[in-house]
Formats: sequence, structure tokens, C-alpha cells
Amino acid sequence: MMRVVVLLLALVLTVAGEKECHVAHHSRGSDAGPAINAAFRKCARNGKITLDKFYTVNSLLFTTDLSNVEIELIGSINFTPNIAKWSPESYFLEYQNATTFWFLSGSHICMHGGGTINGNGQVWWDALSTNGQDAGTAGGSSRTFARPIPLTVGNSSHVEIEDINFVGSPFWNNFVYQSDHVTYKKIIIDSVSYSSAPAANSDGWDIYRSSDVVITESWINNDDDCVSFKPNSTNVEVSHLFCNGSHGISVGSLGQYAGETDIVANVTVFNVTLENAQNGARIKAFGGSPDPNSTAGGGTGSASNITFRDFKVINVDNPIVINQCYSTPADVCAQFPSGIIISDVHYIDVTGTSSGADGSVIVDIECSSQCSNVTAYGTDITSPNGPATFICQDVDTAQLDFNCTSPKS
Ligand SMILES: *[C@@H]1O[C@H](CO)[C@@H](O)[C@H](O)[C@H]1NC(C)=O
Ligand SMILES: *[C@@H]1O[C@H](CO)[C@@H](O)[C@H](O)[C@H]1NC(C)=O
Ligand SMILES: *[C@@H]1O[C@H](CO)[C@@H](O)[C@H](O)[C@H]1NC(C)=O
Ligand SMILES: *[C@@H]1O[C@H](CO)[C@@H](O)[C@H](O)[C@H]1NC(C)=O
Ligand SMILES: *[C@@H]1O[C@H](CO)[C@@H](O)[C@H](O)[C@H]1NC(C)=O
Ligand SMILES: *[C@@H]1O[C@H](CO)[C@@H](O)[C@H](O)[C@H]1NC(C)=O
Ligand SMILES: *[C@@H]1O[C@H](CO)[C@@H](O)[C@H](O)[C@H]1NC(C)=O
Ligand SMILES: *[C@@H]1O[C@H](CO)[C@@H](O)[C@H](O)[C@H]1NC(C)=O
Ligand SMILES: *[C@@H]1O[C@H](CO)[C@@H](O)[C@H](O)[C@H]1NC(C)=O
Ligand SMILES: *[C@@H]1O[C@H](CO)[C@@H](O)[C@H](O)[C@H]1NC(C)=O
Repeated sequence: MMRVVVLLLALVLTVAGEKECHVAHHSRGSDAGPAINAAFRKCARNGKITLDKFYTVNSLLFTTDLSNVEIELIGSINFTPNIAKWSPESYFLEYQNATTFWFLSGSHICMHGGGTINGNGQVWWDALSTNGQDAGTAGGSSRTFARPIPLTVGNSSHVEIEDINFVGSPFWNNFVYQSDHVTYKKIIIDSVSYSSAPAANSDGWDIYRSSDVVITESWINNDDDCVSFKPNSTNVEVSHLFCNGSHGISVGSLGQYAGETDIVANVTVFNVTLENAQNGARIKAFGGSPDPNSTAGGGTGSASNITFRDFKVINVDNPIVINQCYSTPADVCAQFPSGIIISDVHYIDVTGTSSGADGSVIVDIECSSQCSNVTAYGTDITSPNGPATFICQDVDTAQLDFNCTSPKS
């Protein structure tokens, strides 16, 4: 009875207020981009957009000013591997010259449906491995070779992306850009290369200038950070993830640009398993710089209230890492310590096995200026190379439940 009432109510609402837009089948190879953009324009307010076919997309999806929109993605969106076209025509974002195939923007947006967003990354990864010099410092960002991000949630608030598959992202899979209250749930990410070229920079998520972000119940198979908290990511919760082959769950890198302030605060990561990863729980901040125009260190800011709890590593090279001299020569970092203050970092029940790639080292906490209130309890990680080694520098070791040794100089 209840269900019938709810159904009737939904029907009435649909008839009364909600516009519906369905994007029709396009013959294989013809560009569905303009039709998709038109559907979003038509149904931009109180609308529902249904994408239930296989769509080839060869032009920018720029779907903005949405308000109260439901996107049902049942089919698949396949971005063409057309380097010459996308490199100048993908949408350029303000951070690290990142660009995107799809800029999704507005408020109260929900996307769901079990469909797929396919970035056709293989062609891009193969090209990068042969023309890397063209890539720009972010790894993929000149007007002749820009590897787009399949989905950017930008300038948005109250967005939910649920039950969507991402395949073959040329660059980061998801970018949360200048947005708040964004939730990702039941996402499957598969960025795996079938050639000798790595699936470079295929981060699961990057978060920038955004707050109140939740990432949960997802499975990620990729070749760079599983989740990365870039400058000004605050109030973020990451939980119930399984990440395979990644570079870890990473805060940063922060402090890259002199004159800029980067803040990452209130991040909780719990019930996450990382397998076959380069890093586990990681915080990276550049050292200082004498150059006021530096783009490789010298920024200021902070990383605070970061908790990793019920965090499991399996075959991970560096399970716990803090590096406050990231990409900074040791002598420069000694003279110009990092301007990123690191405080209130908590490791609670980090367990599992390291790969042994870094000998017996399983913890490597190297601060350049002091890191304060860094605590660890319930740490239980074994190394395949005998008794584990814990390296610590410029941190209060009394609050860590392992015995530290100093880094070799
Ligand atoms: C962005 O692109 C410009 C022009 O191609 C280049 O000079 C700059 O170094 C790039 N910046 C980054 C962060 O890649
Ligand atoms: C996003 O917001 C920024 C800052 O408010 C603004 O400069 C930019 O034009 C916006 N971009 C889009 C595509 O809405
Ligand atoms: C932890 O996350 C996994 C998914 O990776 C899930 O299956 C499991 O139920 C979660 N455990 C708890 C205690 O929530
Ligand atoms: C997990 O990653 C490893 C190497 O990084 C890879 O060999 C393996 O196939 C991946 N597992 C799955 C289920 O994709
Ligand atoms: C981060 O936020 C701080 C404080 O609001 C601001 O001063 C700074 O410019 C922001 N940094 C970036 C990279 O947006
Ligand atoms: C972190 O969370 C606390 C408690 O909710 C809040 O007071 C503070 O403003 C948050 N910090 C940032 C930078 O958002
Ligand atoms: C730390 O961050 C969490 C959210 O990740 C928040 O619930 C908590 O209130 C914050 N604690 C402080 C002391 O700000
Ligand atoms: C930094 O950049 C500014 C503006 O481009 C320039 O005037 C100044 O000379 C530069 N300073 C150094 C030390 O390179
Ligand atoms: C350490 O961090 C915890 C949680 O973020 C906070 O409650 C506590 O007050 C901090 N302790 C000190 C000495 O700053
Ligand atoms: C640390 O070293 C002390 C003294 O050698 C030893 O008693 C203690 O059991 C060690 N703690 C751990 C967690 O290994």
C-alpha cells in the first residue's frame, strides 16, 4: 500500500514538475556530445536526463547551471581517443592545467544508474609514454597534449554520484573542484593499461577547494593515488574502499607554489584496504624555497586533523608516510623547512603487510619543521624482511606505539 502511494506520488510529481529528457541512440561513431548537452540544457531545472544507450562523445560535455536534476546513466559514455581534438578543446581548469571531458555543475544533482564512463585511456597512456616531454608539469597538460578527466564536479553543491563505473581514464578519474557536499557511493574504477605504458596519473579522486566530500563503498583498480586531497580539501570522509595497485590515500602534495596557502583539514579515512600499492596512508608537503616565485616548494598552509583508522595494507611498499620535504633536495629543505604545518594526525589500527620494497621499513615519518600531535596506536604491520623498521624525524615519538629510528643521513 505504502509503495503504491509513493509510486503514485512520484508519477504526479513527474507529470506536474519534472521535465524528462532522453538522449536517443546515435549511429556508432557519430558524436552524441551536442545531443547530450542539449538534453541537459532542456532539463536543467527540475529535470531528469536519461542516458541509456552507447554514446560516442567527441566534443566537450559542458553541463552547467543545473538545479535539482536527476541523471540516469544506464548506458555508456565513450570519449573518443582523439588527442588532436581533445587537447585544445577539453575544458581547462585552474589547477595544474588539468582539463576535463565533462564539466558538471550546479546544485542538487544526482547521477546514478549503473552505467559507464569510458575515457579510452590506453591511447593517451601509450602516447604519454612516447611523447612525455609534451606533458606539462602536471603530467598531461599542454594545448597539444592534455589528458582530460572524464568527470569533473565543478562549482557545485549537493551532488551525489552513485553506482557508476569508470573505465580507462586518461588522467585523474574524478575531480571535485570548488564544490561542497559531494558524495560518491558504489563507484567502480578500472584504469588498467594493457601495454607496457603505465596508466599514468589515473587517480581515483582528486579534491580541490572543496568541502564536505564523502567517498564510500567503492572499488578502485588504478595506477596512481586512490584518493588525493589537494589544496583546500576540508571535511572529507573516505570509507569502505578497496584500492588495488594505487599510490595510496594521499594528502597533498601541498606547498608547491610560493605565495599560496594550502589547507587540508578534517579528513577521516576509515575501513579502507589498500593492496599492491606504492604507499598506504601518505602526507606529502614540499619543503620551503628561497625563490618567491617557486613552483616547486615554498608555499604555506597546514594539514591538520587527519585520521586514518581501520586501515589495512596488503603488499604495500610504504604503509605510513609523512614527507615534509617532498620533491625538495635535502640541503634546500634543511635550510628552508616546509611552510606547511602538520598537526593532529592520527593512525588508529593500521594493520597488514608491507611488500618489502623498502627493506624492512614500514613507517617513514620525516618532518622538516616539527609535526605536532602525531599519534599512532594499534599499529600492526609486518615486513617480509624481518623485524620492521620505523623511521621518524622531528616528531614526538612518545605518542607513537612503535620504536623509531632516525633516518640515515
Ligand atoms: C600549464 O601550461 C602552461 C602553458 O602550456 C605551462 O607554461 C605551465 O608550466 C603549465 N603548468 C602546469 C602546472 O603544468
Ligand atoms: C567556477 O567558479 C570560478 C570561481 O568562482 C569562476 O571563476 C569560474 O568562471 C566558474 N566556472 C564555471 C565554468 O562555472
Ligand atoms: C569495510 O568495507 C568493506 C568494503 O571494502 C565492506 O565490505 C565491509 O562491510 C566494511 N566493514 C565495516 C566494518 O563497515
Ligand atoms: C591488482 O593490481 C595488480 C598489480 O598492481 C594486478 O596485477 C592485478 O591484476 C590487480 N587485480 C585485479 C583484481 O585487477
Ligand atoms: C585556501 O583557503 C585559504 C583560507 O580560506 C585561502 O587563503 C587560500 O588562498 C586558499 N588556497 C587555495 C589554493 O585556494
Ligand atoms: C574542522 O572541523 C571543526 C569541527 O567541526 C570546525 O570547527 C573547523 O572549522 C573545521 N576546519 C576547517 C578548516 O574547515
Ligand atoms: C576532525 O575531523 C572530523 C571530520 O573528518 C570531524 O568530525 C572532527 O570534529 C574534527 N575534529 C576537530 C578537533 O576539529
Ligand atoms: C617573481 O616574479 C615577479 C613577477 O613576474 C618578478 O617581477 C620578480 O622579478 C620575480 N622574482 C624573482 C626572484 O624571480
Ligand atoms: C591532538 O589531536 C586530537 C584530535 O584531533 C585533539 O583532540 C587533541 O586535543 C590534540 N592534542 C593536542 C595536545 O593538541
Ligand atoms: C620498544 O623498545 C623497548 C626497549 O627496547 C621495548 O621494551 C618495547 O617492547 C619496544 N616496543 C615495541 C612496540 O616494539
